[in-house]
Amino acid sequence: MHLPDLKEARKRTKEKVIEKKVEYTFPNVFVGKKYFLRTYGCQMNMHDSEEIRNYLELLGFTETLVLEESDLVVLNTCAIRENAHDKVFGYLGRCKHLKREKPDLLIAVGGCMSQEESVILEIKEKHPYVDIVFGTHNISDLPRLILENKKKQEIEVYSIEGDVYEGIEYSRDSKITAWVNIMYGCDKFCTYCIVPYTRGKQRSRKLEAIVSEVEELKQKGYKEVTLLGQNVNAYGKDLTFVYDFKDLLECVAKTGMERIRFVTSHPWDFTEEMIDTIATYENIMPYIHLPLQSGSDKVLKQMGRRYTKREYLTLFQKIKERIPNVSITTDIIVGFPNETESDFLDTLDVVNTCQFDSAFTFIYSPREGTPASLIEDTIPMEEKEERLQRLNQLVNQYSLENNKRLEGKVVPVLVLGENSKDKNKIYGYTDTMKLININGSKDLIGKIVNVEITDAKSFSLDGVVAKESVGN
Ligand code: 5AD
Ligand code: SF4
Repeated sequence: MHLPDLKEARKRTKEKVIEKKVEYTFPNVFVGKKYFLRTYGCQMNMHDSEEIRNYLELLGFTETLVLEESDLVVLNTCAIRENAHDKVFGYLGRCKHLKREKPDLLIAVGGCMSQEESVILEIKEKHPYVDIVFGTHNISDLPRLILENKKKQEIEVYSIEGDVYEGIEYSRDSKITAWVNIMYGCDKFCTYCIVPYTRGKQRSRKLEAIVSEVEELKQKGYKEVTLLGQNVNAYGKDLTFVYDFKDLLECVAKTGMERIRFVTSHPWDFTEEMIDTIATYENIMPYIHLPLQSGSDKVLKQMGRRYTKREYLTLFQKIKERIPNVSITTDIIVGFPNETESDFLDTLDVVNTCQFDSAFTFIYSPREGTPASLIEDTIPMEEKEERLQRLNQLVNQYSLENNKRLEGKVVPVLVLGENSKDKNKIYGYTDTMKLININGSKDLIGKIVNVEITDAKSFSLDGVVAKESVGN
């Protein structure tokens, strides 16, 4: 097994995508056994876990939320930052302990970390109690690996991707909202990011396959789909430009699915036509996650983001002007190697101009094998932490101000469930993707209701159901 180097991976972006069908022919020999599945990281991983859960249930396992009760542990891991690694290895310590008491316990590690050669070496050398390691390109091999259980460590990770699987079945977390993969991998190679190495080159699913998945979900009663990709605006670019993300959005909107969302956008590929399409269709939600990463042209260039501060601001303005009531959130990295105070002030300047609805903020974490990890960095960690605090303060201030402006307004909310802390309340998301807790009946779960916002905080809203508001 070896991981692709940058040059090899770039070359492969020209190759053709091969479509494969997943076979579902395994026996349910594990009836009565329990599995414990822990997922780290992004929505992509959470959706992969829905695929994993389906395989495990077809094998006969039932889920437990208590590690100690399990016969099989599956960790679906994330590699985006160092602390994600640390969490997984910390958790493996607990599993090792449990295996001493339960020697038949099966431990499987999958996800992005499994695609890193250094992690595989570490598991081989220091964690022999891990039974199975599988990667992001061969999730469908997991049932076979569990059935074979060779009583020795099995590592099956593909370093060469290229396949798009169709016909995948999921055991979905929700009966109301669903994730739909539109593409896998990423060709952007931002210099700090490990994703193009762990998830491979960009492979778009065919438009017809995506639309028929959405139609099927609609028939099953789903109210919302979120189209998933590392870089959704580049959708279709690897399919010899037959269609692009705008075409896909249009086709998905025409299925009549009540709510359509998509993540994550990249400013580079965001065209005016895409903005117009989002504005045109009422069932495409007015919410865009548009990572900024940095406001400094120098840092953006070093990051390989391929846009300038001015270009980002121009795009931001266009989106705000053309999509009524749109909410825009972002991702920001502080402390990229040698980021100066003046670079950081450029980032704060963009935050002050855009006044994002919310932002995920991170301290730069060097990832082995990425170009940025080779840059010698002179900025001390304390300075980076201090910048993060200043940034968070500003970001939270704007989140609160944006939310406060909504007080007294009536907004459509898709109700998702009961509030976990207060059983008299239900919760859902506004069209603009804001979490809202509502005084209302559980009968509204799964429905889109108009809600009057009574109170606003930085990270959530409170509301009451507006009169005569219940849709279908
Ligand atoms: N260090 C810190 N943050 C990172 N991200 C991606 N790679 C790194 C890294 N090496 C952040 C980016 C991205 C989000 C998902 O994670 O902001 O948009
Ligand atoms: Fe990573 Fe996103 Fe850049 Fe792709 S576009 S390399 S996933 S940060």
